[in-house]
Amino acid sequence: MDIVLSGIRPTGNLHLGNYFGALRNFTKMQHENTCYFFIADYHSLTTHPTPEHLQDNVKQVLVEYLAAGLDPEVATIYVQSDLPQTAELYLFLNMNAYKGELERVTTFKEKAKKQPNNINAGLLTYPALMAADILIHRAHKVPVGKDQEQHLEMTRTFANRFNRLYKVDYFPEPVAYNFGEELIKIPGLDGSGKMGKSEGEGNAIFLADEPAVIRKKVMRAVSDAGPTEKNSVKPEPIRNLFLLMQAVSSADTVAYFEEKYNACEIRYGDMKKQLAEDIIIFTEPIRERVKELSADEAYIKKVMEMGKEKAIASGGKTVKEVREIIGFRP
Ligand code: TYM
Repeated sequence: MDIVLSGIRPTGNLHLGNYFGALRNFTKMQHENTCYFFIADYHSLTTHPTPEHLQDNVKQVLVEYLAAGLDPEVATIYVQSDLPQTAELYLFLNMNAYKGELERVTTFKEKAKKQPNNINAGLLTYPALMAADILIHRAHKVPVGKDQEQHLEMTRTFANRFNRLYKVDYFPEPVAYNFGEELIKIPGLDGSGKMGKSEGEGNAIFLADEPAVIRKKVMRAVSDAGPTEKNSVKPEPIRNLFLLMQAVSSADTVAYFEEKYNACEIRYGDMKKQLAEDIIIFTEPIRERVKELSADEAYIKKVMEMGKEKAIASGGKTVKEVREIIGFRP
């Protein structure tokens, strides 16, 4: 049985990008694999959230994990800081992570540009912490979106380096994974490449957004005056609308609008209306469950305790073995 691990930073509500990148099909997967789904609260500290924000966001991600269909009796759902052994493994991995390679990571370079006054060491060593998350359960598969591909490559590098340094075959080489398909990138609504929490107002559709909000966001999505030549290549914002539609609508619906586009008869107003309704239908069960679960503090606490226990059983064992491999007193 493969060990599967997936993580999301608690920096706000989950959006469709998170869902398709890290969660899709997990209901089936959780029964066929040993699954760990965690909330990466250590990672979120790079942007210095207030204690209240941190706590609220951790709870929100947990609720949305459950609402999206994860079963805490089957999969292990836990909060990263409830497994503090992660920090110890992170320290060990940092000893074999080099400044040059860390500085070359695309997400680091992007973040450094975005927040020039807060280029902290945590940001630089982010890939080592992410590797610790994955390696602590000796995971084989890591469901992620396209944006995390390079981090997975780093994880393999760190795992291999550790194995070679200590002449062991201890850590497997984990692969980024999206259910047998290519890694996915869900685009934003603002014409930009990626749906993201910090990409600005109106870019992301959140799983918990109310129908009226979804309609408003989709109707405001960037489009253009429409094609003037038959069968022309779609400009990026239009390609993005189609990609979103492929994610949530039926194949017939997509084919219908493709045909209209190719014949230069497309009306983006109609397409957006359809897209909004399909997103609403797609997210409805999750939205309803979020409301129910958010009110059930006792259940949320119980899930966290259960997850913590299972995560420590697995991660604690790994770190104990790693300490012995490194040469600390048993
Ligand atoms: P985060 O919190 O930014 O995003 C969580 C997951 O959602 C995916 N994702 C997307 N997928 C497709 N299209 C999009 N527009 C989109 N936006 C986000 C991300 O690829 C990710 O899978 N570093 C991670 C959190 C993390 C982690 C880990 C993940 C920490 N440790 C260990 C896996 C394993 C992050 O910041 O994801």
